[in-house]
Amino acid sequence: MSKPRVLVTRQIPESALNVLRECADVDLWQENVPIPRHVFLKKVSDIEGLYCLLTDTVDEELLEQAPRLHVVSTMAVGYDHIDVRACTKRKIPVGNTPGVLTETTADFAFALLMAAARRIGEGSEFVKAGHWGAWDPALLLGQDIYGATLGLVGFGRIGQAVARRAKGFGMRVLVSHTHCVSKEILRETGVAQVPFDQVVAESDFLSLHVPFTESTQHLIGQGVFKRMKSTAILINTSRGKVVDQRALYRALKECQITYAALDVTDPEPLSAQDPLLVLPNCLVVPHIASASVSTRTKMAIMAVENLRAGLNGQLLPYCVNPEVSEH
Ligand code: DGY
Repeated sequence: MSKPRVLVTRQIPESALNVLRECADVDLWQENVPIPRHVFLKKVSDIEGLYCLLTDTVDEELLEQAPRLHVVSTMAVGYDHIDVRACTKRKIPVGNTPGVLTETTADFAFALLMAAARRIGEGSEFVKAGHWGAWDPALLLGQDIYGATLGLVGFGRIGQAVARRAKGFGMRVLVSHTHCVSKEILRETGVAQVPFDQVVAESDFLSLHVPFTESTQHLIGQGVFKRMKSTAILINTSRGKVVDQRALYRALKECQITYAALDVTDPEPLSAQDPLLVLPNCLVVPHIASASVSTRTKMAIMAVENLRAGLNGQLLPYCVNPEVSEH
């Protein structure tokens, strides 16, 4: 019997690919850049399964070209690159990779927080530029983390994992009343729930952990920056579009806030000429919060498991639109 055809849109860890090859006829896009859109549209015409990344847009136009497609699996927890409603309409289940990247991403959010607070990026640039002279009591003074207030925007798995780290650092942690959180989690993480305005106004660090949706687009913009402390630091490991980047540029330039550390930007990749990169108080890294060897391998395997289940007509272990399988 012939195996179902699947398209894998980028090189993934060999161990995951081998599992997939056992059950599917794999068309692998081997270049280390996303598939050009016109090629992507052609390649889906005869596939039954799609293994994609967050750099691939799966929308009505693409689904129209893929009449045989019956499962989409993304190697990411975020699925804002997929029109889930359009997939659901066609009864196509969509799989993602929640859970396995929680701790790795929380580690990284905390790494950005610490790097920003203690100006590690600037320190490294300073040394490389040959500016390191005699020890200077006023050189690159940063901010203390111990005892500071951390505001979390978003309190799902990753937000909670960041809160646990913050507790170990003796921080006071705030989340907005708008998040529905059990008393047990609040107790375990030591987090206080207060109105959103208070989170914004009292935080020394504001860390973003919401998914990108219509309602979170530009959630952090001029209005928020104006209410933040002038010494506050913004950390974003969620999605670039959650922040109004023009407003962020102005806020950093005019010292409405002190620093931003961004793993995600709008757009991605960020052009090397982007004005944000000229600012000394902005640290940008290329969307690597989940990028540990072990976590990326687990994500790849989890995405294969979702795909395999879908190809076999089974429930996906991690499905964002389980309603397609009801009945
Ligand atoms: C995701 O999975 O959504 C991250 O942004 C990349 O790991």
